[in-house]
Amino acid sequence: MKVTVVGAGAVGASCAEYIAIKNFASEVVIVDIKENYAEGKAMDLMQTASLNGFDTKITGSTNDYEKTANSSIAVITSGIPRKPGMTREELIGINAGIVKTVSENIIKHSPNAIIIVVSNPMDTMTYLAHKATGLPKNQIIGMGGALDSARFKYRLSEALEAPASDVDGMVIGGHSDTGMIPLTRLATRNSVPVSEFLSNEKLEEVAKATMVGGATLTGMLGTSAWYAPGAAVSAMVQAIACDTKKIFPCSTLLDGEYGLNDLCIGVPVVLGKNGIEKIVEIALSDAEKDKLANSAAAVKKTNSLLEI
Ligand code: 2OP
Repeated sequence: MKVTVVGAGAVGASCAEYIAIKNFASEVVIVDIKENYAEGKAMDLMQTASLNGFDTKITGSTNDYEKTANSSIAVITSGIPRKPGMTREELIGINAGIVKTVSENIIKHSPNAIIIVVSNPMDTMTYLAHKATGLPKNQIIGMGGALDSARFKYRLSEALEAPASDVDGMVIGGHSDTGMIPLTRLATRNSVPVSEFLSNEKLEEVAKATMVGGATLTGMLGTSAWYAPGAAVSAMVQAIACDTKKIFPCSTLLDGEYGLNDLCIGVPVVLGKNGIEKIVEIALSDAEKDKLANSAAAVKKTNSLLEI
């Protein structure tokens, strides 16, 4: 299984490292426009192979997409990350052109690739990738909900004073500071609803902290986070590569599901060898439906800024 990661920055390199360490891919090609940068990251990562015990071959390429040919999966992390105080949506001016060009370059050499978009504003960039490639909708996936759900579980585990492995929770909606929807109603601690352990006020606090999880780290780090984003997208790559049929909240093109059309936004999907195997429609409360409708309206507003 050959995987391409476009963007040798912190998120892309973390993603490549996690894919390699999980040892399910034969090859990972990292691409970047910066001279020798991807090649350097690949060499540094390959020098961990004997230490971390993986056989995956990691190579780098300075903008030569020939080297990505016949990739089964391609991850797009390229573009600029946000700075403290910025919203993800403010990145559209620069990142839209990059994601369009990268998407076109990927399918030129891997026409059947499954593309996972990480670059922000992610829901809109995922929609753009659809328009730029014309790939079937099951082959274009946005990574946001997997990351936001991991942050949700982190905040829940903190509040519960429980290990994150004992906690389950999902975030749907837009991957934005105001549009994501942590589903506190459905979250559990070892199958017990978390509402049995935490007050409504505490759950509200957990949801709020989850929604600004990215902005919080950007404020602390001076740039976007990379470990959890890299881990989240590598988990999606693994689900596709190994055809696990795991459910992840992913940004996907909706054609009537959840009453929404012609946008990409985070909903639960089954991931497998075909990418999005199935969109899972769960029963939402009226309040959750309203939040999703508002979130979708905000994503469509950002989409309207695209010149496609
Ligand atoms: C984040 O929330 C990069 O959007 C990503 O950290």
